[in-house]
Amino acid sequence: MTKEEKDAVASFLDLAGDYLAGGYRKNRTAPEFTDDTIREFPSPAEQGLPETVSPADSLEKVAADISRCNRCGLCSTRTNTVPGEGVPHPLVMVIGEGPGADEDATGRPFVGRAGQLLDRMLDSKGKIGLSRNKNCYIANVVKCRPPQNRNPLPDETAACMSFLRRQITLLKPLLILAAGNTAAKALLDTTEGITRLRGSFTTFTLGNRDIPLLPTFHPSALLRDESLKVPVWDDMKTMRAKLCELDAAYAGLMADAPL
Ligand code: URA
Repeated sequence: MTKEEKDAVASFLDLAGDYLAGGYRKNRTAPEFTDDTIREFPSPAEQGLPETVSPADSLEKVAADISRCNRCGLCSTRTNTVPGEGVPHPLVMVIGEGPGADEDATGRPFVGRAGQLLDRMLDSKGKIGLSRNKNCYIANVVKCRPPQNRNPLPDETAACMSFLRRQITLLKPLLILAAGNTAAKALLDTTEGITRLRGSFTTFTLGNRDIPLLPTFHPSALLRDESLKVPVWDDMKTMRAKLCELDAAYAGLMADAPL
């Protein structure tokens, strides 16, 4: 709870107490409340609870909760929260690290140089045929920009994970593409680096669903090192092959776009 929320509840209880005592007002000094900071955010599975989503939950509600979030220090330096964007029930949910300067300024994920490269990778001149407007959803592990684009800290990632889990539960993507070290490590709960993880499917389990997850390099890494284009193109082809197995309509489209 925030300090503001606690102040409001305390003042309501004071008033109600006075009312029940016949309107007699006592002089009180208000208690000094502070904001709660959540350091650890265990998943339902870690707490031994089933993974469920309330029937009332929605992507809009997740975005509204993110916009009010102050679970970690990133809330004090953000301009906008960046919940994610794309289509519901996408073929692919792309998960990156966290917003950069352009995303913080606009509230939209992957809109800077790395984002434009991501859009080109996902479409690959129609050979992969994916886009955030048609069949993808794009989000990040953390929803607020880390200062100076540093990597998110473990407590920041942990505090944000429940938003990502709610988004995945609601979106039900056919496949997850984890872009970069932070996303792969957070989703797979491993310390293994992206160079070893990339290119092979593993699964992300949520409730009773096993979602195929493919780690690949982050587009920012490609901007720094052109040689990563070859393995990333291999990963795009691996993803295309899996999607063709999983979705007949996509397989039909790809039949007209030979590699
Ligand atoms: N890098 C990310 O990981 N996410 C964005 O939204 C932009 C750049």
